[in-house]
Amino acid sequence: MYNPMERTIVKKKALVTGASEGIGYVFAKRLAAEGYEVTAVARNEGRLKQLLAEMGAGHSHITADLTTGAGQDAIVQAISAGHFDLLINNAGIAAMGAFTGISLKRHVDVLTLNCETVVKLSYAYLKTAKAGDALINVSSALAFMPMPVIGVYSATKAFVTSFSESLWFEQKPRGVYVMGLCPGITSTNFNENSGGGKADTPKLMTQTPEQLVEVALQSLKSRKKPTVISGAVNNIFAFLSRLMSRKAIATMMGQMGAKQ
Ligand SMILES: NC(=O)c1ccc[n+]([C@@H]2O[C@H](COP(=O)([O-])OP(=O)(O)OC[C@H]3O[C@@H](n4cnc5c(N)ncnc54)[C@H](OP(=O)(O)O)[C@@H]3O)[C@@H](O)[C@H]2O)c1
Repeated sequence: MYNPMERTIVKKKALVTGASEGIGYVFAKRLAAEGYEVTAVARNEGRLKQLLAEMGAGHSHITADLTTGAGQDAIVQAISAGHFDLLINNAGIAAMGAFTGISLKRHVDVLTLNCETVVKLSYAYLKTAKAGDALINVSSALAFMPMPVIGVYSATKAFVTSFSESLWFEQKPRGVYVMGLCPGITSTNFNENSGGGKADTPKLMTQTPEQLVEVALQSLKSRKKPTVISGAVNNIFAFLSRLMSRKAIATMMGQMGAKQ
């Protein structure tokens, strides 16, 4: 943005959580290429520094564990202290396996990162957001379907989508755009990081993070949809989920999960 008073180019600023790998990493690089000044957040400092080196000068990182109060507070402070044109709440985890076979702490970490952190950072952001700003909460196509074996995860994403749709409506009159982004299966290390094996999914159902980020940034330009479901197959599944009984969906998803 050109500011004639200062005769300097004022860069747009974006904060991306979960930027050390996967979807967040691609978001950060793409935004940097589009001229944003990026603040990248995650726990793995080495990978964040690698990202910064790849993005070039003018970007920054904050190392924070967003399942902890201290980590959440550090990012809330950064958001409150400086104005960001865009916040992407992308960091998210799952715990794969039978519900009682996984530690309760791990389930609570999933809830904390995927829900509590998203609420806290959205709150800090929207308190000071200005017309033209945007908030993207990364949800999942599983927001529309309960997924046995990652039941806590799919429930957290139902929360993120519903929450984002409410915020979309509330923020519209002040010119702040809120998007709930629903990726389907995306080729990252998410499965392994969630305690599952390497996902063996049909190509037709899998997107690259680059494809997903392209869809998200196109939708960010048009600022129309509260919920952006990426990929034709995922849109079909989301549509079908509205026609099926809850029992049928849970059974179908459980049977699909059992084959993984
Ligand atoms: N991949 C998929 O198929 C898929 C599908 C639908 C939705 N999504 C959603 O997309 C988002 C990104 O997923 P992804 O596929 O890119 O996963 P990923 O490759 O596993 O990356 C997850 C990112 O979150 C960060 N993170 C994890 N725990 C954290 C913590 N406690 N504090 C701060 N950062 C943390 C990780 O960094 P550190 O480990 O360095 O902290 C990493 O940068 C998630 O919200 C996920 O639910 C993914």
